[in-house]
Amino acid sequence: MTQLKTATPWTSIDHENIRLSELLGALSHALDLTEGQPAGHCVRSCWIGIHVGRAMGLPDLQLWELYYTILLKDLGCSTNAARICQLYLADDLSFKHDYKTVSDRLPQVLGFVFSHTGLKAGLADRFRAILNIMQNGGEIARELIETRCQRGAEIARQLHFPKAVCDGILSLDEHWNGLGKPNQIAGPAIPLYSRIALLSQIVDVFHRSAGREAALTEVRSRLGTWFDPHVVACFEQVAEDERFWEVLASETVETEVFALEPARRQILVDEDYLDDIARAFAQIIDSKSPFTSGHSERVAVYSDLIAEQMGFPVERRRWLKRAALLHDIGKLGVSNSILDKNGKLDEAEWVAMRNHATLSENILSRIEAFAEMARIGGGHHERLDGKGYPKGLDATQIAVETRIVSVADVFDALTANRPYRDAMPIPKALGIMRGEVGTSFDPDCFAALERSLDALNTVAELKAA
Ligand SMILES: [Fe+2]
Ligand SMILES: [Fe+2]
Repeated sequence: MTQLKTATPWTSIDHENIRLSELLGALSHALDLTEGQPAGHCVRSCWIGIHVGRAMGLPDLQLWELYYTILLKDLGCSTNAARICQLYLADDLSFKHDYKTVSDRLPQVLGFVFSHTGLKAGLADRFRAILNIMQNGGEIARELIETRCQRGAEIARQLHFPKAVCDGILSLDEHWNGLGKPNQIAGPAIPLYSRIALLSQIVDVFHRSAGREAALTEVRSRLGTWFDPHVVACFEQVAEDERFWEVLASETVETEVFALEPARRQILVDEDYLDDIARAFAQIIDSKSPFTSGHSERVAVYSDLIAEQMGFPVERRRWLKRAALLHDIGKLGVSNSILDKNGKLDEAEWVAMRNHATLSENILSRIEAFAEMARIGGGHHERLDGKGYPKGLDATQIAVETRIVSVADVFDALTANRPYRDAMPIPKALGIMRGEVGTSFDPDCFAALERSLDALNTVAELKAA
């Protein structure tokens, strides 16, 4: 088959222009997907919380910390998804979405458990799962929230945020009356940012699903149990402002939220910081499923090795590595009941699985400077013969950078453990891929992968000698 190669000219990106708030605001859409929330949930929660913080008279530094606590409150969201699936035999996305509307009143909790546990499982499995939750529900919920909050705080630390932001994320699910999780902290001992973030997310969830009155009713009904009365009083003040609600319900809320970041504290992202952000989000992606553990990191390493063999300049390789780290960001929007399924996917499940590439492209294209990375995220399952997905692009439409990530992606998929089979030895994986060079894979990229593996082998042999 004749190969046409469309090496897209590598766009030089002016990173000076990337603002931290815009970058993390865009990436927070991936966190919304994992939480099963409508797009923009973290951003809208930020709008709500900053208004509450302002009504409280918080100074700029604290508003800045509050801003990022709320925007990144769900950083740990992917770490408990697989466990939720396993324990509740449920789709983690709808489970997480609906859980946000449940109060701690027993009838509601029980109703939630019965309506969400093992709906598609056999009767015996469903009974076993419900029994386990009835017996150990408190501890199970505590463990799920602890994992999520601790991991979230850890990632915030990796993203260079100060302790106050990390602590705010850590205590997100603590309640004013001390009955929250995981540590049952009460009253003013709960970090202020957590108290505001908790209220903000509940307001957004109820406002989005049932409107302004429903949000207000919910806030008032949880006053003193979930919510700090002072935070509620400040929110009541904010709620009198008509414009607050108008923007919250509008398409422009995102732009308005970016404008809310305290001006004197705006941060521009440099190259090193961009690497750290890409690496942190790769960890979030890879934590979603036990079977994708380390996948994005390895695809980045293989992509870099291939690009090095193909003579890419260092700066271009650095950018490609970030694209490889984020290529599967859309997988955060795929349920673990599909990602971790031990068996053949049915047609509807395949559609959801294939959709991850589109989601990757959608999320990354929210950032103007990531346009090239977005194309790689959207195109990494395309094939040269046009039989790939999601768009069925052909060789004339697939850039060399995307071809590199495709080769690296499949090589890692074959040589890592999967739900349905064990890892494959490297020679066997290369043999399978060789059969698809020219139809699926680019010959130059595949040859570069082989050369780089040979070079690594030689180094290993020299070291062993
Ligand atoms: Fe993928
Ligand atoms: Fe992948």
